[in-house]
Amino acid sequence: MAGSFAHNFNNLLQAITGYHDLALGSLPPGAEARGLIVQAGNSCQRAADICMKLLSYLGKGNQDRKSCNLTGLVQNTSSRFKESCPENVTVIQNSDQESILITANAERMEQLLMNLLQNAAEAIGDARGNIIIATRIDHCVQEEFKPVFWDENLADGQSVVLEVIDTASSLDDTTQEKMFDQFYTTHFEGRGLGLPVVLGIVRAHNGAISVEAEKGKPTTFKIILPLPANTL
Ligand SMILES: Nc1ncnc2c1ncn2[C@@H]1O[C@H](COP(=O)(O)OP(=O)(O)OP(=O)(O)O)[C@@H](O)[C@H]1O
Ligand SMILES: [Mg+2]
Repeated sequence: MAGSFAHNFNNLLQAITGYHDLALGSLPPGAEARGLIVQAGNSCQRAADICMKLLSYLGKGNQDRKSCNLTGLVQNTSSRFKESCPENVTVIQNSDQESILITANAERMEQLLMNLLQNAAEAIGDARGNIIIATRIDHCVQEEFKPVFWDENLADGQSVVLEVIDTASSLDDTTQEKMFDQFYTTHFEGRGLGLPVVLGIVRAHNGAISVEAEKGKPTTFKIILPLPANTL
């Protein structure tokens, strides 16, 4: 129900964007209405972005999964992120393997990582801080992991691990309890969709997620993905 609502709404937005582009193109340069129409277009873009996030959260939209290299995916996403990242934030990629294969929807995985990176940068704010993105293959055990979510088909054992760590250490207990709820935000301009989308993507990939946060220590979002069967 929510999925078909988001799909229909997204189709309508695409029609509005089409008419918006035509209207903008028909205005003479310097026309007074130009600025207003551009703003309307930006709002449409934000609304379309919310629709895509809702579809991701619901596990709808493009879910095709293929074999892809997590290390390369992290490199691409962190390069894109660095383009808009403030100078006070240093992004460090930490991987001991050039190639870690996962079976995933690359677009969704990039979205997951981007959401975590954006949150980490927002947590750091204007202070100086580091974001570390770590990838490895490790032995993971559900009992030790304290998951927010652990897929019922994910077995203990060798798995792919992706961590996003920030040095802001600004996650308090109340936020930690609620932050995966849809529309929960502590930011004035936030929409509270970033982490629900992350959770939706982890679910769709039969993975697991945990959060480690303690005053004075770095905040770590840890994601586990199953190792593809042929690498076991
Ligand atoms: N790394 C972090 N450190 C501290 N707090 C965090 C961190 N990541 C998330 N949070 C908290 O969790 C809340 C929910 O995060 P979420 O990404 O879902 O929404 P948002 O960032 O507020 O809005 P948006 O939809 O634009 O992502 C944030 O508002 C913030 O309070
Ligand atoms: Mg966010």
